[in-house]
Amino acid sequence: MKKRVINYFGFIVLFCLYGSSMVSGQNARIKFDTDRIVGEVDKNIYGNFVEHLGRCVYGGIYEPGSKLSGPDGFRKDVLEAVKGLNVSLIRYPGGNFVSNYHWLDGVGPKNERVPRMELAWARLETNEFGTDEFIRYCRAAGSEPYLSVNMGTGTIEEAQRWVEYCNVKEGPYYAELRKKHGFSEPFNVKYWSLGNEMDGEWQMGHLNAEDYTKKALEAAKLMRLTSPDVKLVAAGSSNYRPAADPDLWNRTTINNLKNVIDYIALHMYVGNPDNNYYNFLSTPLVMEQRTRIVKGMIDEAMQKADRGTRPPLYIAWDEYNVWYRARTTETMKGTRALEERYDLEDALVIGGFLNVFIRNADIIKMANMAQLVNVIAPIFAEEKGMFRQTIYFPLELFAKYMHGKSLDLFVDSPAYNTDEFYLGLGEAKTKQSNVPYLDVSATYSNGEVVLCVVNRHKDNPVRTDIICQSGEFSDVLKVFEINASDIKATNDFGVENVRTVSKPDLKPGGNMVTYSFPAHSLTMIRGKVK
Ligand code: AHR
Repeated sequence: MKKRVINYFGFIVLFCLYGSSMVSGQNARIKFDTDRIVGEVDKNIYGNFVEHLGRCVYGGIYEPGSKLSGPDGFRKDVLEAVKGLNVSLIRYPGGNFVSNYHWLDGVGPKNERVPRMELAWARLETNEFGTDEFIRYCRAAGSEPYLSVNMGTGTIEEAQRWVEYCNVKEGPYYAELRKKHGFSEPFNVKYWSLGNEMDGEWQMGHLNAEDYTKKALEAAKLMRLTSPDVKLVAAGSSNYRPAADPDLWNRTTINNLKNVIDYIALHMYVGNPDNNYYNFLSTPLVMEQRTRIVKGMIDEAMQKADRGTRPPLYIAWDEYNVWYRARTTETMKGTRALEERYDLEDALVIGGFLNVFIRNADIIKMANMAQLVNVIAPIFAEEKGMFRQTIYFPLELFAKYMHGKSLDLFVDSPAYNTDEFYLGLGEAKTKQSNVPYLDVSATYSNGEVVLCVVNRHKDNPVRTDIICQSGEFSDVLKVFEINASDIKATNDFGVENVRTVSKPDLKPGGNMVTYSFPAHSLTMIRGKVK
């Protein structure tokens, strides 16, 4: 009798330990084969963005006179945090700002630079920080500069002269002007974009698709005649707003510019205005759908393109982030504009976006988080110091470890359906079916496999068999986790509720390891295979 009671009790304990996840069907499988490759991960997917907006430049990366700044006015604490993100390239100077920006205002002796009314975000632009300072900043951060030309109120001639200033060694006027400003060697800026969000009626100098592509084509011609090796990015649809007919815009841009551009830029901001966790967590899938749609357009256009030895056209997710709180009339203007505070669920969505970039590594060859500091940013700074927002941590982990070849995975995960919802403020409606609780991507490089798994389940862990189909694990696996007890947890000065934590190593058995991914978490698992 006593033995039976113990058995019964043991069964209850076992049920409590493992049964809850099994009964609710929360088991999953991930299979990978290191020969099954999607494409090479481009380091430029770990790009970022600095715009003259709010406190991104002034009071963000640049604060002369602050005791936290170096002699060049760059905030040293911020720069260290930027370096921690291994930012491959930095897009500058906008954004909406660029469509009325005249680069000559921001070069040369600072006391001769003229202040201007800044119309996109309602500020006074002193022009104290411009191209020369930006190039210095990129060098200090170890990042590649990526400049956006003014296709709104600017001319194709102005764009050409900027390329000359940056990339021509000597001789013509603007190359000599750069030398006069103290830069004997050219900046060699490789990446240039042909305007920003030109499909948006809010854009200063907004054009329709035909007019935009005519202007962009001529700008591209002059820029390439000046510096033949520049890589050009055309403005695709911003946030896929139905009112702007995104498919027509993207198709026209791709078709009309297919012989000259290197990337089409897409933008995407999502939010959780209805406070619906599951809807919000599914938003990276919409990015993946848009990637596939635009990839189809590119594939079609490439059949008729004449690109010489140039590789095919790629997608740049040129601006992406969570942005919906600081999006009211008051929070979108002035020196404190777009100061979004992020929580754990935002970090999980960013993890989802990064997984999309890896899973589609064959076509997504650039991505820039918008933006770097203070303005919808992973780094938040005030005069007294800085802190790393929740979204800093997935970006840091990916930029550090997810490189090499992207693997084409088999993922068998329980899933859920969403209701119809708005992706965020100003965005389209969507409804997602079969959203897998486990969102997974993997890379393979130098014998090491790195898996990144977002468990979207709010309450349950998902117990998962991870199976190598092309060999065996050869050592223990390292595990990192981003999580917190509360999905609304945020960080602050001196408080890191959400950050990356190392977990105990995993000991695989041959070609398999089983792991329980905790509820609402991002987990990275790294290990060698043979
Ligand atoms: O990143 C903030 C703004 O969002 C950019 O200036 C613009 O391109 C987009 O609409």
